[in-house]
Amino acid sequence: MDPINTFDSFQISVNDISSQLAPDYMPRHVAIIMDGNGRWAAQRGLQRIAGHQEGLRALQDVLEILHELNVPYVTIYAFSQENWNRPKLEIQLLMNLLERYLQEERALFLKRRVRFRPIGRLHQLPPSVHGLVSEVAEETRHFTDRVLSVALSYGGRAEIIDAMRRMAVEVEMGSLSPSDIDEPLFEQYLSTHGLPDPDLLIRTSGENRISNFLPWQIAYTELYFTKTLWPEFRRTETLHALVDYQKRERRYGRVTQTVSS
Ligand code: IPE
Ligand code: IPE
Ligand code: MG
Repeated sequence: MDPINTFDSFQISVNDISSQLAPDYMPRHVAIIMDGNGRWAAQRGLQRIAGHQEGLRALQDVLEILHELNVPYVTIYAFSQENWNRPKLEIQLLMNLLERYLQEERALFLKRRVRFRPIGRLHQLPPSVHGLVSEVAEETRHFTDRVLSVALSYGGRAEIIDAMRRMAVEVEMGSLSPSDIDEPLFEQYLSTHGLPDPDLLIRTSGENRISNFLPWQIAYTELYFTKTLWPEFRRTETLHALVDYQKRERRYGRVTQTVSS
């Protein structure tokens, strides 16, 4: 096929899909479980790390389109508590990739005024990664309009337990009364405090599960599962997910206005 024509038809199809998007019904917060890097590599006879490298390029594409569409909050699952059970070499290569990504992107965060907000048990990261993550978080902490939260050594149940422990200490010291504990107060003890709950959660690779990602925060989130492996989830796939989101009716337990009771 003529490569120029291929490029043209790609452009047209991207434009076609984005014209289906209603600008006043965009999600404010998109959460993503980036899954399928290993299978993408295996399908090509490559090492798993090659899948993670390509996954990073997919991430850059997806963040770019979400930026263009002015989605202010994005939360990505980069490394779970359970991922520590992977082979040591894969963990080490993933940590190197994360370090390189942050070194490359920190200037862009500053230029675009994006707050880089890591969440998870960060002290479990190798010291050099922990140091860099904290530095980039610190130098961008004053930005409020756009936030990129990155879940690292993150587990949703661990997050809830950590919140509970801190509350229990305050109850013990007498500065918090059990009767004051309600949902808005509990939210303040979570690592995502202050962020609106995700409107849309995307999971790639055909797995229809949450894998311990933001269990508290996604109570009313719209879920989008796709068979596409993460390295192949790019601009067009992102637009498809957003168009699908816009077709949904978020009822929060209420009844539809148009349905007669
Ligand atoms: C997701 O891809 C990336 C991380 C969990 C770090 P996987 O590495 O889980 O890829 P699969 O699921 O084995 O294909
Ligand atoms: C979830 O993917 C974690 C990340 C994407 C970082 P996994 O590949 O670790 O999840 P499971 O094992 O399929 O549930
Ligand atoms: Mg996986």
